[in-house]
Amino acid sequence: MKIKVLIIDDEIMICKSLEAGLRDIGYETASAQTSESALKKTQSFKPHVVLTDMKLGNDNGIDLIEDIKSMDNEIEVIVMTAYSDIKSAVLAIKRGAFDYINKPFELDQIKIVLDRAFKNLKMRNKIFLLEQQKECVTRDMIGNSSKMKEVFTQINKLSKNDHATILIRGETGTGKELVAEAVHKNSIRKDSPLVKINCSAIPENLVESELFGFEKSAFTGAASKKKGLFEIADGGTVFLDELGEFPMDLQAKLLRFLEERKLRRIGGLEDIEVDIRIIAATNKDLEQAVKNKEFREDLYYRINVIPIDLPPLRERENDILLIAQFFLAKFNKAFNKTIKGFDTVAEARMLDYHWPGNIRELKNVIERIVILTDDDCIRLNNFPPEMQKHKLKKEIIKIPEEIKNVNFEEISLEEKIDHIEKEYITHALEQTGWNQTKASEVLGISRFTLKRKMEKHQL
Ligand SMILES: Nc1ncnc2c1ncn2[C@@H]1O[C@H](COP(=O)(O)OP(=O)(O)OP(=O)(O)O)[C@@H](O)[C@H]1O
Ligand SMILES: [Mg+2]
Repeated sequence: MKIKVLIIDDEIMICKSLEAGLRDIGYETASAQTSESALKKTQSFKPHVVLTDMKLGNDNGIDLIEDIKSMDNEIEVIVMTAYSDIKSAVLAIKRGAFDYINKPFELDQIKIVLDRAFKNLKMRNKIFLLEQQKECVTRDMIGNSSKMKEVFTQINKLSKNDHATILIRGETGTGKELVAEAVHKNSIRKDSPLVKINCSAIPENLVESELFGFEKSAFTGAASKKKGLFEIADGGTVFLDELGEFPMDLQAKLLRFLEERKLRRIGGLEDIEVDIRIIAATNKDLEQAVKNKEFREDLYYRINVIPIDLPPLRERENDILLIAQFFLAKFNKAFNKTIKGFDTVAEARMLDYHWPGNIRELKNVIERIVILTDDDCIRLNNFPPEMQKHKLKKEIIKIPEEIKNVNFEEISLEEKIDHIEKEYITHALEQTGWNQTKASEVLGISRFTLKRKMEKHQL
């Protein structure tokens, strides 16, 4: 993008020569000789920076600063003053000018001031965007567990930095891609592309040309030049998914690119500078891959600048029911259903299950149930067979005699179930010497569930 400069001076020759000079060194320019035409040009030309003389015939350049600023506060104004007129220069700055420059000046001098003004403008935009985005970092990511709260804090911090390379680690379906999207969407790169590259999905012999591009006639079949994905992502973010599958013989080239931030297309002679942030993801243990000589150690350290570890769903007990409810509401809406929730056995099952496919699996399970069921509450028998199959190990414990002697007349079913549960848990705890981990195992529930139940029964 070219920086647009509006030059305001009542002497047309000064306007013309400045315009020509600034155009030669890469700026886009326009000019005006009176206050009135200057304001009109401000509206139509939309300059980034205005360069104005202090005296415009009968008009006063100082008043013009305020008029321009009130039209668009984003525009930076620089005033041109005579050497002797420091007083008005100070006044101009008080009224909102960014800086002043003494006449006569060299083009090099004005370039420095113009670039500084533009940088200042960009910086203000950046801060504004960041402030706006603070709130919405992870709208689609649900989580209330302490581990996920930590992840959200990391996403927030990393969005503010637009360069550091990130390595997201976690089992399949834990939300690695979602985290990469959140970081990109909340960074200043959000209006530039987020290019997703799945390293295991591109045939090995095409990885190099896909990522780095090629020149015309670089190889048989290269009829015209092609930009690689890194070049296409310029200004934005590249998500390198399944990094563990990145071909060994290209890892040195990737490392060189990460270090120099320059790439050369296949068959090309010149280096092309590319400004991208890399976010990589893996569900493979890269440290082990390094030990097995399947992944370059230097590349591993270059990419693992900031690791984000996503915990498996079974370790986010506080989140399971929350995410289940979130998907239930989502699919209720999508399929026009009104399922109210889960019964307690279904909830217990979800809390106990080991979720090998993590959140993706939970999402698919709920989607399938919402489509298939006509009940208003989700029960254990609605779950897929593999989830129902996982038997609770209750045979291990015999029902205590005392429960068998309960008097039906004196006690409601609910109270009875409550009573049985309490006795059952107490018995399990006694049998395991009050070792909660062992007790939860024999009861076939998670430690978290056991803890909740112990609190409920005041055990
Ligand atoms: N915290 C979360 N809240 C809500 N939905 C989530 C959350 N984490 C992941 N998901 C959803 O779960 C699914 C899987 O997430 P994602 O594709 O990001 O996982 P992944 O770690 O990249 O998996 P893989 O390793 O298999 O590529 C997506 O539909 C995503 O929207
Ligand atoms: Mg993924």
